[in-house]
Amino acid sequence: MKKIVLAYSGGLDTSCAITWLKDKGWDVIAFMADVGQGEDFEKIKKRALKTGAKKVFVINMQKEFVTDYIFPAIKAGAIYENKYLLATALSRPLIAKHQVKVAHKEGAKAIAHGCTGKGNDQVRFEVTTQLLDPKLEIVAPVRIWEFKTRNQEIDYAKKKKIPIDVTKKSPYSIDINLYGRSIECGVLEDPWKEPPEEIYLMTKNPLKVPNKPTYVTLEFKKGIPVKVNGKSYGPIKLLKKLNTLGGANGVGRVDMIENRLVGIKSREIYENPAGTIIYTAHKELESLVLDRETLHYKQAISQKYAELTYYGLWETPLKKQLDAQIDKTQEKVTGTIRLKLFKGNCVVVGRKSKYSLYKEELATYGEKDKFDQKLAEGFIRLWSMPFQGE
Ligand code: ARG
Repeated sequence: MKKIVLAYSGGLDTSCAITWLKDKGWDVIAFMADVGQGEDFEKIKKRALKTGAKKVFVINMQKEFVTDYIFPAIKAGAIYENKYLLATALSRPLIAKHQVKVAHKEGAKAIAHGCTGKGNDQVRFEVTTQLLDPKLEIVAPVRIWEFKTRNQEIDYAKKKKIPIDVTKKSPYSIDINLYGRSIECGVLEDPWKEPPEEIYLMTKNPLKVPNKPTYVTLEFKKGIPVKVNGKSYGPIKLLKKLNTLGGANGVGRVDMIENRLVGIKSREIYENPAGTIIYTAHKELESLVLDRETLHYKQAISQKYAELTYYGLWETPLKKQLDAQIDKTQEKVTGTIRLKLFKGNCVVVGRKSKYSLYKEELATYGEKDKFDQKLAEGFIRLWSMPFQGE
C-alpha cells in the first residue's frame, strides 16, 4: 500500500482523516510536531494508533523553532500588517520541513494535512512541501471530503469508532505554540464585539494585574536576546521567562482584522507576551546603534520579510537573501534595553550599547555642547537648493 504522512493533532479533523485516508487505500503514518503547544503527546500517540495509524512520529522542534524561525523574524523586525508577530505563520514551514523529512525516511509518496481551504496554513504547508520536494503528492482531506459540518464529522467518527473527545468543543479555533496563541471564530467573528476575557490564557487581564510596574532588562548580542535581568538564558527558557513576565502584566494582546492570502479579511486575537517585549526592545536597540539610512531602509525589509513569512514563502530565494542582509545589519545590535511592564503596556525606559551612535556632546543643549550651530546655515541653503525656483 502507498504510504502517506499525515500532520496529526489528535483533534476531530485529523482523527477522521486517518480513517478517511485509510478507506482511500493509504497506509497512514501520523506525524506530530512539538512546537511547545504543551500537549499530552503520549495520549495523542495512542489515539493515533487506535484510530488506525501504522506508525506515529513525535518530533520535538522547539529549539529549532526559536533559533531558526523566531529569532530571524525578530532580527528582521517582521510584523504582518503592523500587528501580527507571526507565531503561527513561522511554525508552518518548520513543521512542513520535518514532515517532508519523515516522508523521505519512510519512503512515503504523499503528505496530508488537516487545514481547511479558507486559511493561510494550507498554503504555507503546501508551498513549503512543493519547494522542498515537488514530487510528493499532497492530500488535504478537509478540503475535499463529504462532510459539510462538524456534526457530520462526529457522526462519521461514531460510525467508524474513531476515538474523539466528547467534551463540549470550545467555539474558538486556537493555534498555540511556545511563541504565542492565535484565537479566532465564535463571537470573535463579529468585528464590533469585544473579545471575552475567557479567550486569553497567556496574558492576565490588565485590569487585574499588579498596581506597580515590573522592570525588565533585556540584553542582545547581534540582534538576539541572550539575557533577562542580567541572567543568561537559552533560547527556549528565555522565551518562557519573558512570556511569564509579560503575561503577568497583561502584555502582548493584539486584536486585529487581517488580510488573508485567500482574499478574505478575518478577525484574529493574538497573545504574544515574550514577542512583544523582545520586539519593543530590539527596535529600540536598533534606533541606538544603526545609522539613519540603514534604519530607514530596514523598515522596508521588515515589511517584505513579514509578507514572505505570512504568504508561506519562507523557503524562497528572496527570504534567504533578506536573511543575509539582515544579519549584516545586526552585527552591532548588541546592548541592553530596560523596559517597564505595566497594565498591558510595555515601554522602553532605558538603553545602552557599546556601539551606541548617540553622542551626548552633540545632542545636548547644556554646557558640554560641541555642535557647531553656524554650520547649519550653509547646510540648509544647499539642502533647499534643488527645489528653489520651482
Ligand atoms: N491568522 C493567523 C495566520 O494566518 C493564525 C492562523 C491560525 N489561527 C487559528 N486560530 N487557528 O497565521
